[in-house]
Amino acid sequence: MNQGFFDDPEKVAAYEQGPRWFIPAYEASHDMAAVLLHEFVPETGHILVVGAGGGIELAALAKAGPDWRFTGIDPAKPMLDMAEARLAAMGAAERVALIQGYVADAPAGPFDAATCFLTLHFVPDDGSRLALLEDIRRRLRPGAPFLLINGCLDKTSARFGRDMARYSAFARFKGAPAEMATMAATTVAQQVHLLPASRDEALLTEAGFHSVEQFYRGLWVHGWLAHA
Ligand SMILES: C[S@@+](CC[C@H](N)C(=O)[O-])C[C@H]1O[C@@H](n2cnc3c(N)ncnc32)[C@H](O)[C@@H]1O
Repeated sequence: MNQGFFDDPEKVAAYEQGPRWFIPAYEASHDMAAVLLHEFVPETGHILVVGAGGGIELAALAKAGPDWRFTGIDPAKPMLDMAEARLAAMGAAERVALIQGYVADAPAGPFDAATCFLTLHFVPDDGSRLALLEDIRRRLRPGAPFLLINGCLDKTSARFGRDMARYSAFARFKGAPAEMATMAATTVAQQVHLLPASRDEALLTEAGFHSVEQFYRGLWVHGWLAHA
């Protein structure tokens, strides 16, 4: 899945169902994220949502924190349009600023928290992934929480083929069409910048985050809480 997918309005229209078919406990990861944000973020806190396209986690978090404000950032216009429509439908649009671009285009903050869900694995580990994490950390108040949910797999491990097969099988079990389930696994294997979870943990530390702890795992998708 390259960035072209998220810039294509027809493909984006199908995004609504995608993560629910493919990621075990996808909605539960948002519930847990909301619980963790409530632990650290003030009632009227301002949260930076990186890779906010589609608006699924924005909507879940806006519902969980009715006085929280959000800045959502994403380079893909069709994904932002979907987020805007979703937030308007639930009456939360006035609490959310959506920006088309990258974290470097986001206001300096400081924000009370940040999230980055299912997005970091699109960024290669050639300095860009570290730079993105640093851009997020710089925009947070000292000690503020950062929630990262990211696909992590060691492509050289024996587990890799098994996890890809289980990824497809889970999607089939949840009702995804067979062709889509097979194609998604191939696309992930070929186009997503998958790294072992230990590498993302090391990058979080290198970017200046501390107290990194795992709060979620759905097959090869991991979720961490870290602090700026
Ligand atoms: C799989 S979607 C995840 C959307 C949403 N976070 C979710 O969990 O449903 C990945 C999103 O990341 C966006 N994206 C890709 N590279 C990005 C980057 N460097 N910074 C911010 N967003 C990015 C894409 O445009 C896309 O909307």
